Amino acid sequence: MSSLSVTVWRGGSDGRFQDYSVPRRDAQTVLDVVTYIQRRLDPTLAYRFACRVGMCGSCAMTVNGKPRWTCRTHVAEVASGDRIEIAPLAHLPIVRDLVTDMRTFFDKWARAKGQFTPTASRREGFERVEPESRPRRAVDAAIECIGCGVCYAACDVVEWKPDYLGPAALNRAWTLVNDVRDGARTERLAAVAGDAGCHACHTLGACTERCPKHLSPTASIAGLKRETAIAMLRGRL
Ligand code: SF4
Ligand code: SF4
Ligand code: FES
Repeated sequence: MSSLSVTVWRGGSDGRFQDYSVPRRDAQTVLDVVTYIQRRLDPTLAYRFACRVGMCGSCAMTVNGKPRWTCRTHVAEVASGDRIEIAPLAHLPIVRDLVTDMRTFFDKWARAKGQFTPTASRREGFERVEPESRPRRAVDAAIECIGCGVCYAACDVVEWKPDYLGPAALNRAWTLVNDVRDGARTERLAAVAGDAGCHACHTLGACTERCPKHLSPTASIAGLKRETAIAMLRGRL
């Protein structure tokens, strides 16, 4: 049986890479490799996963220099010969080994007003939102985000400007700006219009290129730029 040479980040931000040899298998994912190391070679290795099927967003890591969801990334797609390097996601503090602290990432969702603000009570009927309406199509195009942080780790503006809200939080804000049931549109546009908001995005699209759910935060951010500009011209911001 052939084997993979795997280099894994160990420790905190002052840690170092450590080498492991892992048997190569058919249809093996990067998460399978990390799990093999933790179960067979070193039980102290810390990493995070939950669903293993691309739904929870918890397994993202840097694989051969690029952010990826590891449970749906096959070794055959990303290995460089028989070598693979696995590190924690960029732009987030390292807790230990492959685990990052996601608090800043989700705090930015809150700063971008990523929470739904209801306008109706439970005693009222369901809102009818036509599937073909423009706002509904805008929401549908952006709603399947799993909060994995891959786009955030790929964004160089996050690196240069640490308070930048980032692609995932802005993508979330865009889904709510287009949600006809939501009652905080103006406050949300104000929350994303500042220096650290949508206008800081340079639109090069690394987030969209890397998003494992094939979403386009770049398009969502362009929508926010347009809507905040219109609101400013109308004196609403
Ligand atoms: S398009 Fe904007 S949000 Fe996406 S990676 Fe580039 S700067 Fe970041
Ligand atoms: S937009 Fe895509 S890459 Fe970014 S957090 Fe959501 S699913 Fe992950
Ligand atoms: S483990 Fe849930 S998305 Fe990978």
